[in-house]
Amino acid sequence: MKNKEKSSSPWGQVGTSPWHLSGRDHVTGRSQFIDDLPKPRNLLYVKILPSPLARGKIIAINTEKAKTLPGVVAVLTATDIPGENQIGGIIQDEVCLAQDHVQFIGEPLAIVVAESIEQAEAALCQIELQLEEEIPELTIKDALAKNQFVGPVRKIERGDVENVFADCSNYLEGVIRNEGQEHFYLETQCVLAVPEDNGGMTIYSSSQNPNEIQRMVANVLGVGQHQITVDIKRLGGGFGGKESQATVWACLAALAVFHTGRPTELCLTRDEDMLCTGKRHAFESYYRVAFDEAGKILAYSVELNSNCGAVADVSTSVLERAMLHAENCYQIENIRIIGRPCKTNLHPATAFRGFGGPQGIFVIESVIQKMAFTLGLDPYDIKMKNSYRKGDQAPYGEAILDAEHVGKVFDKLRKDSQWDERKKRIAAFNDTNKYCKKGLGMTPVKFGISFTAEHLNQGSALIHVYLDGSISITHGAVEMGQEVNTKIAQIAATNFGVPLTKIRIESNNTKRVANTSPTAASSSCDLNGQAVENASLAIMKRLRALVFKLFAKPDVVFENGFIYLVTAGKTDYEFPLTTFKDLVRTAYFERVDLSAHGFYASPGIYFDRDTGQGNPFLYYAFGAAVSEVTVDLLTGQITLDSSHIIHDCGSSINPMVDVGQIEGAFAQGIGWVTTEELVYNASGKLLSSSPATYKIPTIGDIPEELHIELLAGSFNEVGIKRSKAIGEPPFVYGEAVFLAIVDALCSLGRYPQELSIPATPEKVWREIKRCKKSGDSKE
Ligand code: MTE
Ligand code: HPA
Ligand code: MOS
Repeated sequence: MKNKEKSSSPWGQVGTSPWHLSGRDHVTGRSQFIDDLPKPRNLLYVKILPSPLARGKIIAINTEKAKTLPGVVAVLTATDIPGENQIGGIIQDEVCLAQDHVQFIGEPLAIVVAESIEQAEAALCQIELQLEEEIPELTIKDALAKNQFVGPVRKIERGDVENVFADCSNYLEGVIRNEGQEHFYLETQCVLAVPEDNGGMTIYSSSQNPNEIQRMVANVLGVGQHQITVDIKRLGGGFGGKESQATVWACLAALAVFHTGRPTELCLTRDEDMLCTGKRHAFESYYRVAFDEAGKILAYSVELNSNCGAVADVSTSVLERAMLHAENCYQIENIRIIGRPCKTNLHPATAFRGFGGPQGIFVIESVIQKMAFTLGLDPYDIKMKNSYRKGDQAPYGEAILDAEHVGKVFDKLRKDSQWDERKKRIAAFNDTNKYCKKGLGMTPVKFGISFTAEHLNQGSALIHVYLDGSISITHGAVEMGQEVNTKIAQIAATNFGVPLTKIRIESNNTKRVANTSPTAASSSCDLNGQAVENASLAIMKRLRALVFKLFAKPDVVFENGFIYLVTAGKTDYEFPLTTFKDLVRTAYFERVDLSAHGFYASPGIYFDRDTGQGNPFLYYAFGAAVSEVTVDLLTGQITLDSSHIIHDCGSSINPMVDVGQIEGAFAQGIGWVTTEELVYNASGKLLSSSPATYKIPTIGDIPEELHIELLAGSFNEVGIKRSKAIGEPPFVYGEAVFLAIVDALCSLGRYPQELSIPATPEKVWREIKRCKKSGDSKE
């Protein structure tokens, strides 16, 4: 056999950047999201009645009148739940439908199930609600004053901060605040529930967490998990907002199926979604820092207080990650980190890209900025002076794997971004411009990769090789735009030595992969990619044994659909031994098993929450960003002029996808720190609950000059195909933009310490006014 199509050109193997698997379907509109699925016959629509009060007692919910309206098939409240009214994933403190009392505006009180959406909406207005209003607690201060928390207060400590504070020459203390952030996934929360025979049900949900949906639906309905199938093809974005918060909608649609025996769909409108679902955690953190004249941090103490809203959700884990990132890239001998998860009457805050990491990092980065201003030093110098080096340990005791990458990134970025020249240029600009000031900011990131909940660090996969040599893969991750499917297909293509076109990634389905972890913590490719690796290698072991049996040649390679002989290290691409397709056919007749289940559990991770010590992460991702901004002093308007990013993603499985993740995460970070503002009224109602009042970044907010580089020469020996996770860490780079704004304002001679995330033009303008006032009084 002579080979027409010699291997050597890319065929989708690891390390290349083939088109992403859904690319064509996305741009031609063929990709199916929940609301695009063919509608089953007899479909009913579900609408929710959200609580209008942030806090109150439920005296009565009268549904009689609503039930009589045309098209209405059922109106259901908590008393109609056949199983347990309980959907809390980590702490069991969350109901599916409110019972006895309401805890936040938007909490579902009842549902209407009707033949059309319009009929369901008409019936909602006819439900008579009797609530007794109570005064809500909305702020972190409210909760701290009453010691109201959704979980335990935690501490991580090393050395003796008090001893240093008692005797130091340079000391600062203060408060750092950030507000929350709406996920603004393009596909709103959406679910289609279909009854099956023998008491079963299939749920098509826009969720990052099929396993939790399956467990909670079974719990609410009071049936076995085996009766519930969850199928998820892809999400129109999740960003953490569908890790735990898709569950309630799935349970409500399932409840409607239970009572009507008909398929049901529940899709939130954009405004419902923004009003009812939880967001990124706002934090209010108190810090104390002692340092020497050269900017070396001698002691750092931080109290991280997060606004968790009404129930725990994943808040204790988010706070834990914030605490585990409180020191960011800096070696601090004496450090104390306290975390308090504050309970308030807002919608439950939840996972959002970075999962507390960005909030923890924001405090130390702000503190260093302030130290630099106080000492008259360059913040970049202070960061370099304090940075982690090889052999250093985190405050919780873990040795920082690849710590030397911090220094590498710091040095290279300083050069590449022309930090020093730029600073001079900016100083000259600020001297000569009265109404515009420029500023420069730098933020590094060290992001711990693994779920901090040890048991979640597992992945699974199921692979079938068909007789024509094509391959079906189901894995435990959910595709939500991060292109985990493309990466996983590349891993399989590499291992089987077949082109990408021979591989189909199936929907995530609880019948094919069970007990999966949520697609979160940036770890889905690490965990499930490794499971696919294990399953594919198991099948390959059988195929290689067959090759040996057939050809008696021990040294062969599988590439691009062919099997080649290797002699003395040289591959004979001219004459392949056979094709993958022919080999598989032979394997079938030889009765070789062509299917495999794969499993993976990350080794060696543990964390003791009581002592605050352990090895919570398998490894770390690193990187840093520099941004330059111009602030218009008359309007507070911010222009992001340029950004430079260097990021360590190990040996990238797909460099284009990784750069895309960096771009997307950075854009989301820019939005968080500059334009996205959640405004609540005194009753706890979100006023910015629509795209008209909530401003996410657009193309105009992206810097005209944007340089993104993947750190060369990084090989992660503990990662899948030596890669590193990418999804969340680059979100932190948005903070460089915030620091650049602070730097620009500092050129007015005063530190803008009231400025918090988001630095909207309005808030920046207020800071400018404050500067002018304090300037006037000096004159
Ligand atoms: N990218 C896109 N396009 N859409 C998303 O919803 N979610 C982010 C990140 N990148 C997200 C995304 C979040 S919050 C996480 S945790 C990771 O993807 C999860 O996927 P991974 O584990 O495969 O990186
Ligand atoms: N990251 C994201 N999601 C999670 C985590 C985490 O560390 N732990 C539990 N859910
Ligand atoms: Mo991502 S916040 O871990 O879903």
